[in-house]
Amino acid sequence: MTGENTTPNQESGYDFKYGRRFHTQSSTVIPDDKQEQDRISGQHLMIKKMLGGKLFESPVADILESGTNVLDSGCGPGAWLLDMATTYPQSKYYGIDIAKDQFPAQWPSNANFTMLDITQLADHFPSNHFGFVYQRLVAWGIKDWDKNVDAHMQIVEPNGWMEFIETVIVPEYCVNMGPKMTAFINTLLQGIKEKQLDLAIGAKLQDKLASAGAINIEVRKSHLPLNHSGEPGIRTWANISMFLASLRPGFVKGDDRFEDKAYFDEYLAECGEECKEFQTCFVTYRISAQKPDTTTRN
Ligand SMILES: C[S@@+](CC[C@H](N)C(=O)[O-])C[C@H]1O[C@@H](n2cnc3c(N)ncnc32)[C@H](O)[C@@H]1O
Repeated sequence: MTGENTTPNQESGYDFKYGRRFHTQSSTVIPDDKQEQDRISGQHLMIKKMLGGKLFESPVADILESGTNVLDSGCGPGAWLLDMATTYPQSKYYGIDIAKDQFPAQWPSNANFTMLDITQLADHFPSNHFGFVYQRLVAWGIKDWDKNVDAHMQIVEPNGWMEFIETVIVPEYCVNMGPKMTAFINTLLQGIKEKQLDLAIGAKLQDKLASAGAINIEVRKSHLPLNHSGEPGIRTWANISMFLASLRPGFVKGDDRFEDKAYFDEYLAECGEECKEFQTCFVTYRISAQKPDTTTRN
């Protein structure tokens, strides 16, 4: 599918807008196509580098080495899962996502991928099944976070670990956001309001996990430099600006001037310059938590 305009459905379950393919039957607002697959795979390498080469922060190395079940919840192209399956081959890996076309062409025998909506997790997997569940950057597709946390609490085994990573782009949670970028992001938030996503969820997960009865909760925060602070900041902006461009249907809904591609591209480029000047950062929250022996919701 090429071309700029929105066209009617050409495949059941998908919509094509501004040359990108979107799901019609879930809450997600991000595209599901080859461009997004490439962007997410690049993002995995950036995050791994940001974490000094680490694949997780929960104390799970021992159980991974002796062998446990691991879930990548909203795995996309599965870059994290494949990295884990090679590094800890004794464990068994399950990747789930609604975007089945994102799955890799092949995978090792200790891994498998299933098309599944995260909202169905607790119906699909047995309770207490996983030693480690991992969920990264799914805030653009989840409406009910209490249900999401409860489902992960249910399928992880007693004393097992959960790890969540979410980047917050909501202006009041960010660092040094200038007026242009603030207006840009607020336009997007307005445009996708009806989806009822909580894009500040990273900052709230600690409380949600505590309410669900999780213990040993640890929160780590990092600032994600946008177009400044050397090569990593420039690469981050290249990835994030590609991501923001993919959300153009939401921007257009918030302000119809973004229908004009030249206007949108110029505005986005100006945001990049402003972020460099203001030293703007998004904030990434990394939260790990353990399921106790006996769980009670607080
Ligand atoms: C930004 S990508 C992140 C992929 C992967 N977690 C990573 O960090 O490399 C977000 C993924 O979440 C998936 N997703 C969003 N909402 C979902 C839902 N309700 N159920 C299953 N997958 C979902 C999308 O299809 C997409 O593949």
